[in-house]
Amino acid sequence: MKVFINKRIPEIGIDMLKQAGLQIIFPDHENITNEEWLEYCKTADVLLSIGGDFRYDKTFFETCSNIKAIALYSVGFDHVDIKEAVQRNIPIGNTPDVLSKATSDVAFLLMQSVARRASYNFQKVKDGHWDVFDPLHALGQELYGKTLGILGLGRIGFEMAKKSRKAFDMNILYHNRHRNEEAEKELGATYVSFEELIANSDVLSVHANYTPEQKDLFNRSVFEKMKSNAIFINTARGGFQHEKDLHEALVSKQIWGAGLDVTNPEPMSPDNPLLELSNVCVLPHIGSATIEARNGMAKLAAENIIAFSKGEEMPYCANPEVYIQHS
Ligand code: DGY
Repeated sequence: MKVFINKRIPEIGIDMLKQAGLQIIFPDHENITNEEWLEYCKTADVLLSIGGDFRYDKTFFETCSNIKAIALYSVGFDHVDIKEAVQRNIPIGNTPDVLSKATSDVAFLLMQSVARRASYNFQKVKDGHWDVFDPLHALGQELYGKTLGILGLGRIGFEMAKKSRKAFDMNILYHNRHRNEEAEKELGATYVSFEELIANSDVLSVHANYTPEQKDLFNRSVFEKMKSNAIFINTARGGFQHEKDLHEALVSKQIWGAGLDVTNPEPMSPDNPLLELSNVCVLPHIGSATIEARNGMAKLAAENIIAFSKGEEMPYCANPEVYIQHS
């Protein structure tokens, strides 16, 4: 079975695939174009897909009807038309859990960075403006006992809530498709409507799965309803925020600040006006960028492919319907 891998991943995953006797195809150069990607896909049975730029939609599945399974090197699968994959009986593997701690660490880091204006102050030091002590300049806000609102209380949201509760005794509100009883019991989290979430959060952190219906969910009318001391954090997908409206909300002090690990598009253009604001911290989508998480992702992606190659169910599957349907 031929597996196309579009970029190098940690060796642990490659070794597992080799040991399982699978044939691996790597591109012959770095940064392949989408056209080159497609040509490679035409030569493979299975894909180990790294990055969210390439879309797996109806046209792709029609063009590459040779593809039997895709193992994503990510937990998110918003770049895959899951319905189409199910119709074609193509399992789509993903990498849950192994990156929950790392990604929630970044949300936690952004929350503190914005609350204490860390990137603004660091920039001042770099620019030679370590000014004399000023009791009123660039004051941050403390997070102790404040309210953290989580949109999407799954694995990553849970980790963010747990850290925030332990470190700052924050009250946890959440809005989700389903109630999270574990979070309610362990963290005293309270389920609220989306309207209640935005109106009552001092920090609002997005951890939901992204679907096209949620594009620009955080727009002017939502920012207007948020508290003036609110910090908006997004480590999920950039599509959730309308960036012009976010910029306006930050400039007009409708909200206090924003910490983003995801933007729309990615990479963010260096002349994006958000980067000029002192109440913003932007990171280049590094949620899962730890040795531990990336090794874990490589292992899970390899496990998914090996299981598939043996005719077994992928253990980490974004569309388990493919199995239920035919069992
Ligand atoms: C994911 O796994 O979905 C991340 O966004 C990629 O780092």
